[in-house]
Amino acid sequence: MLKDKQVVLGVTGGIAAYKAVELLRLLTKAGANVHVIMTRAAQEFVTPLTFQTLSANPVHTELFNLIAEREIGHIALADRADLGVIAPATANVIGKIAAGIADDMLTTTIMATKAPVVIAPAMNVNMYTNPIYRDNEDKLRRHGYLFVPPVRGALACGWEGDGKLAAPEAVFEAAVAALSRHDYNGQTIMVTAGPTREELDPVRFISNHSSGKMGYALARAAQYRGARVILVSGPVNLTPPSGVELVAVESAGEMHAAVMGRAGECTAIIKAAAVADYRPAERSGAKIKKKGAELSLQLVKTPDILAELGRLAKAPFLVGFAAETGKLSEFATRKLHEKNVDMIVANDVSQSDAGFNVDTNRVRLFFRDGREVDCALMTKDDLANVILDHVASALRLLQNS
Ligand code: C5P
Repeated sequence: MLKDKQVVLGVTGGIAAYKAVELLRLLTKAGANVHVIMTRAAQEFVTPLTFQTLSANPVHTELFNLIAEREIGHIALADRADLGVIAPATANVIGKIAAGIADDMLTTTIMATKAPVVIAPAMNVNMYTNPIYRDNEDKLRRHGYLFVPPVRGALACGWEGDGKLAAPEAVFEAAVAALSRHDYNGQTIMVTAGPTREELDPVRFISNHSSGKMGYALARAAQYRGARVILVSGPVNLTPPSGVELVAVESAGEMHAAVMGRAGECTAIIKAAAVADYRPAERSGAKIKKKGAELSLQLVKTPDILAELGRLAKAPFLVGFAAETGKLSEFATRKLHEKNVDMIVANDVSQSDAGFNVDTNRVRLFFRDGREVDCALMTKDDLANVILDHVASALRLLQNS
C-alpha cells in the first residue's frame, strides 16, 4: 500500500519526537519515500541528521525555509505528497492548522496539500482536555483530518493520563488505512485465525502449526479498507492490529461459541483458523501419569463451525480455508458444496513457501459458480487484499441480484 508513495512526515517539538524515528523506519521499510519536515522546536529533541540518514532525503526545517522555498518549494512538496503524517503533533501545531495559520514549512505544506493527513497528538493531559484544544481537534476532524488518539500513561511532564503519543505501529497502521480504498466502510467482517488447543489435562493439549499470520493479515487489511473487524483468534504470538475487536479463544468449542454468537452482525466471515477436527473425549483434571508402553486416547469430533454457519437461514458471505497435502481441486470443491460456503481458499501445505508459519502463500480460489482462480506466490498481506477484492465484488453481486 505504501510502496513508492510520497509521504510528508511532520515532526513537532515534543519529547516523543524520538518516536518519529521509529515511525520513519516503518514507513521506509514499507517502501514509502518519506520527506521529513521538522519544526524548530522538534530540532531541540532530535537532530535533522537522524531523519535525513534514515529517510535518504533532505530534511526540511524552518531554518532552511527560504532556501527550501527556492529549491524545492513547499507547494511542490505539498503537491507531490500522497499522504501527510504529523507525529508527534503538539497542541500548538494543531491549533495553528485549525486556525489556518501557515507560518513555517510544516504548517504551510499541510495547508497546501490535498493529500489525506494523519495527526498523532502528544501533549500534557490538561492541554489535551482543554476545551480550546478539543474544539481545534473537532474542527480538523470535521474537515477530514484523521487522528490517532494519544494513549494513557506517565507523561514527561510528570502527569499521568491521556497525552502519550500512540505507538509508532498504530500511527503506521493509520497511515496505511488513510491510503487504502474504503470499499468496506459500514461492513462488519469476522475473521478467525490461528490454531485451537484441545486440552488433555492441565499441562498438555493437541494443536497444530498454524501461526495465525494469514488471519491477522486479513483482519488488518479489512480494517484498513474501512470494515469493523471482529477477530476471533486462537493462541498466537502476534499483536492484533489496533482497532480490531479481538475475541481470544483457546479451544474449538470456545471458537464455536464466539463465532456463532456474533455471526448475525457480519456481512462476511472469513474462517482462516486451523480448527482442531477432534478433541480428547475427556479432559483429565489431573496430569495423566506415565504408565504402560502404550496409551490410547479417545477423540471426539469438534463442532464444524463453518458447516454450521453454512446451514444458517441467513448466512453471511462465507469464506473457508482448505489446507491440503494433495488433490487440492477435488477436496476444495467438495468442501465448497458440503459446507455450503461461498468461496474456498485452498493451499497445498506440503509446499515450503505456502501455508503454515511462513509469510508467503500460494493458493487457488474456488467459487460456487465453478470458477477457479490461481494466485501466484505472494505475501500474506497481498493475498489478504486479493481475497478481500473477491469478497467485495461478490458482495456487490449479491446486493445487485
Ligand atoms: O474440513 P476442513 O477442516 O479442512 O475445513 C477447513 C475450513 O473449515 C477452515 O476454514 C476452518 O476454519 C473451518 N473449520 C471449522 N470448524 C472445524 C474445522 C474446520 O470452522 N471444526
